[in-house]
Amino acid sequence: MEDLRMMRLDKFLAEMGVGSRQEVKKYIRKGMVCVNGETAAGPEQKIRETEDLVTFQGEQVAYAAYEYYMLNKPAGVVSATTDARDTTAVDLIREKKRKDLFPAGRLDKDTEGLLLITNDGTLAHRLLSPSRHVDKTYFVRVEGLVTEELAQTFASGIDIGENGQTEMTRPAKLEIQRSGEVSEVYLTIHEGKYHQIKRMFQAAGMRVIYLKRLTMGSLKLDPALKPGEYRPLTREELKNVTDENAGRH
Ligand code: URA
Repeated sequence: MEDLRMMRLDKFLAEMGVGSRQEVKKYIRKGMVCVNGETAAGPEQKIRETEDLVTFQGEQVAYAAYEYYMLNKPAGVVSATTDARDTTAVDLIREKKRKDLFPAGRLDKDTEGLLLITNDGTLAHRLLSPSRHVDKTYFVRVEGLVTEELAQTFASGIDIGENGQTEMTRPAKLEIQRSGEVSEVYLTIHEGKYHQIKRMFQAAGMRVIYLKRLTMGSLKLDPALKPGEYRPLTREELKNVTDENAGRH
């Protein structure tokens, strides 16, 4: 019977980011890849990804099933894997081992803050599933006076529908930090409708001028990360975010 833990060498090298499938085939044929100290036989050679020692030009190609990075997304970068015009959130992760990373969720191009970059589709699906209502807290700067009355409105839900359609938001928590011509608030929402925060303020006659995501469930943006910086999740962060999203949905 075929051992399911076995994998083609060219596929393994491509997934670990050594090169494209075509490139790694060439490297293997040129004898640049060794498996357990022996020059690899060919691209179709089967390896046990967690046990065999694979080297490329003498350097170990370490196996990583899943990778998880916390990114402080800067403005001007799109929440995508690849883009013809713009830099993507995945482009910013330079040390990645795997080729299949993607952003778990979206922030608008002009929004900054917490974005999880991973290749763990199950976790991403659970984090983003509308039925799970994972809390997300944003720091928001808006033009105009923010009042307790608005906090009440957001707490009971506001209609952000367009073209005559009603689209009510779920109760959201508004904490006012500073109110004036320009106001600063924290807003926690439990869903992720398209442009939700901007549309909530727009529905109240205000314009968002700066938006930054601070938390997503138990995951909190590391304040040491400047826009554009990232780091792997700690074991504890990963455990917490996995545990809270485990189980049925
Ligand atoms: N709400 C928005 O309007 N934009 C974002 O990027 C995230 C939430």
